[in-house]
Amino acid sequence: MDSPTLLVISGSARQGSYNLSLARYAAQRARAAGLQVEEFDLRALALPLYDGDLEGASGVPEGAYQLQAAMARNSGLLVVTPEYNGFPTPLFINAFDWLSRIGVAPHSPSVERTGLEVTASKLVALLSASPGAGGGLRAMNYVRQYLQMAFQMLVVPQQFALSKANEAFDAQGALKDPRAVQSVDFVISAWMTLAWSLHKG
Ligand SMILES: Cc1cc2nc3c(=O)[nH]c(=O)nc-3n(C[C@H](O)[C@H](O)[C@H](O)COP(=O)(O)O)c2cc1C
Repeated sequence: MDSPTLLVISGSARQGSYNLSLARYAAQRARAAGLQVEEFDLRALALPLYDGDLEGASGVPEGAYQLQAAMARNSGLLVVTPEYNGFPTPLFINAFDWLSRIGVAPHSPSVERTGLEVTASKLVALLSASPGAGGGLRAMNYVRQYLQMAFQMLVVPQQFALSKANEAFDAQGALKDPRAVQSVDFVISAWMTLAWSLHKG
């Protein structure tokens, strides 16, 4: 049986982003734990802000199909997102809103599977990072609700919010605090355990 594969996305593509750093570090830890990992850049999709008129005129943009294909070729997802005023970022929400329109938007081309058919029952793990004390915890809880309720994804209960993220990484991009490393590993390991059992089932 093939090993489960993990798609890693960051809700911030900012140069010097703490969440992107955490996503890259978590990807390394997941590889070290034996997973195959694909790191995926949401900003490279160049998705316009969702707009029903734009959708009506030119359909769902190509970038949303790229995200769908990435979801389809992986067993599940690791989302690492900052919080903006307690909510996940527009980069993350906008990409998934577009994904949800594949196959259901008016005048859509016929597709093998809709966006929501591809996400259904996929396993998700969550991390966040912030220079603040809460580490982005509030946004993670909305991401959990959004992916579970709208996308029928299975979000593992374990999650980790990295606080004081501006002081957390060394020059090589590794987390300095062994307790933070342990927390990242804990989330990855929870995802792996469930992913293996879903694979077997
Ligand atoms: C519009 C906006 C709202 C923010 N709101 C929060 C917040 O609610 N909680 C928090 O911990 N940090 C907040 N921040 C600070 C971000 O955590 C900080 O900018 C962080 O570096 C963004 O993540 P990144 O480094 O991955 O880009 C906010 C930043 C912006 C730009």
